[in-house]
Amino acid sequence: MPATRISAAFQQRFGYAPLVVRAPGRINLIGEHTDYNDGLVLPAAIDKEITFAVGLNGTDRVRLLAHDKDELHEVALADVRPGPVQWANYLLGVVAQLQQRGVAVPGFDCVFGGNVPMGAGLSSSAAVECGLAFALNELLGAGLDRLALAQLAQAAEHQYAGVQCGLMDQFASLFGRAGHVVQLDCRSLAYAYFPFEAARYHLVLCNSGVKHALASSEYNTRRQECAAGVAVLGRHYPTVASLRDATLPQLAAHRAELGEVVYRRCHYVVQENTRVAQACAALAAGDMVTVGQLLYASHAGLRDDYAVSCPELDKLVALATGRPGVLGARMMGGGFGGCTLNLVEAAHVTGFIESMAADFLAFYRRGLETYQTVIVGGVSTVAPGEAVA
Ligand code: GLA
Repeated sequence: MPATRISAAFQQRFGYAPLVVRAPGRINLIGEHTDYNDGLVLPAAIDKEITFAVGLNGTDRVRLLAHDKDELHEVALADVRPGPVQWANYLLGVVAQLQQRGVAVPGFDCVFGGNVPMGAGLSSSAAVECGLAFALNELLGAGLDRLALAQLAQAAEHQYAGVQCGLMDQFASLFGRAGHVVQLDCRSLAYAYFPFEAARYHLVLCNSGVKHALASSEYNTRRQECAAGVAVLGRHYPTVASLRDATLPQLAAHRAELGEVVYRRCHYVVQENTRVAQACAALAAGDMVTVGQLLYASHAGLRDDYAVSCPELDKLVALATGRPGVLGARMMGGGFGGCTLNLVEAAHVTGFIESMAADFLAFYRRGLETYQTVIVGGVSTVAPGEAVA
């Protein structure tokens, strides 16, 4: 019961009662690398969560305790800036963003920890940012709504972690709804919930165990490649302000001018937006077979056109394909490692996990970490004694 553990650690270290907040990681059913292209995404918050205990300490200092690492980081509020301690940067980035929005942040203490695997592509960083932003907003009565908190957390990631991410991860952590995936239109910021039939289908994650050092630099490169594509298309079609507006015939007509790399990046994004819309229609119709086929197609695009997969992720998708009860599989998140997402009939989940682990071990000579997921609600406070994931 992490909430109790984190709250007890806080009391023990700082000697007073904190506000306790839980912040979930996320899966993304489909819609990868579309968020920063004004496109559509379909994520959900999951029961891999980070718990925060936060309290105002009456000083001008911030004391941060990473419970799982047992590391303390202390800094004066006047000295908040990105530093060498990476985990602290996510939290300090949130403080800086609040300050930039005119919120006077007084000294506070924070203990956090949880069970979101790090570097597995489940957005532990977004959970960290959103959890602290939510807690401070509550404690200070700053009155920011969930969308403002998501955008603030995204800006923290840009400025303190150096990843020019879209809004998906932070939005999913804050706007998740139990038993539902949420479609976010990253241009209009309109969103809609679609029920996910958890009694019949499960989303199982297989961790490639790869944490690619290139993940953030290549991520930013993809953003630039998409922007380069928009610049070319915009010269020919004034209505194209982002890849959300582009069509496959337009891309085909200017393939040479775009160049092969940029063409392929744009080709993937335009197709992926269509797939998200198709997946939502299929979900609404209860057609999970189609959803599964869209997952396979998404993976092929991420591998071949967007070039953000890696051999281990491709192998995991290949291993899952055709296995009993598997409807679809794809790499999930930014790429270059992390997990695959597998849509599996509930009755086949145990067999799926066992057989995947055995085949992975036979091929790579190392164990396969898998996670079963339950779709939960977004960031919230935790009442004393309340159990969380
Ligand atoms: C990372 C980013 C998100 C999104 C995904 C890819 O998780 O943080 O904003 O771009 O990659 O879909």
